Amino acid sequence: MESKYKFVSVILALALVASLSRLVYVVSADADKVEQTADAKSVVWQIIMSRKSVRSYTDQPISREQIDTLLRAAMAAPSGKDMRPWKFLVLDDSLAIKDFAAKVPRAKMLAEAKAVVVVCGDMTVTGDDGKPSYSWVLDCSLASENLLLMAEAMGLGAVWVSVHPREERIQEVRQALNLPEHLMPLNIIPLGYPKGDAKPKDKYNEDNILYW
Ligand SMILES: Cc1cc2nc3c(=O)[nH]c(=O)nc-3n(C[C@H](O)[C@H](O)[C@H](O)COP(=O)(O)O)c2cc1C
Repeated sequence: MESKYKFVSVILALALVASLSRLVYVVSADADKVEQTADAKSVVWQIIMSRKSVRSYTDQPISREQIDTLLRAAMAAPSGKDMRPWKFLVLDDSLAIKDFAAKVPRAKMLAEAKAVVVVCGDMTVTGDDGKPSYSWVLDCSLASENLLLMAEAMGLGAVWVSVHPREERIQEVRQALNLPEHLMPLNIIPLGYPKGDAKPKDKYNEDNILYW
């Protein structure tokens, strides 16, 4: 009889230890989660608030690996019906960049860029109705902003140089890059390590908030 009680006590003790260790695990996992969330919030906040247009770059090169990271960030953007109607044309050869810069002289910063991404809408990406995305400009804009934020996070400088919707600019880029008809250039994003001290602007304006 006594040994039966002993056995039950041991089982109960083991169960108690198991529950306590589970509790400790859950509490510490929750603490990690809270910490991680707070970290994520401050990192995202810091990157968003420090992003700025950078129009001058040093001679330091940018690697294909860095470009790959930027494009992965770009392609993580949301898109209407998840169609992802984008193509990213990348120039990272200095001669190709020089040639492009010469053909788009209004964008002076291109001459110093170490890489250039031309974000294009791809009209061959069609929906169930067989038509190109109705939201390609929005989708490509979101991808562009992701890229700009990732560039900031990586210590790179970048700027959105407008192309779409101005017809003469679209034609200029089309001709410079010999683009096929189905690619519609939205913007040009030159990239490089920042030269000078471009600063983020404080754009917060509570007049722009309307609680309805
Ligand atoms: C749609 C759009 C078009 C832009 N076009 C140009 C451009 O052609 N050339 C340029 O130097 N900057 C261009 N910019 C960058 C803006 O001038 C810049 O974002 C704005 O002055 C705010 O400065 P910030 O980016 O440093 O916050 C463009 C930005 C957007 C969103």
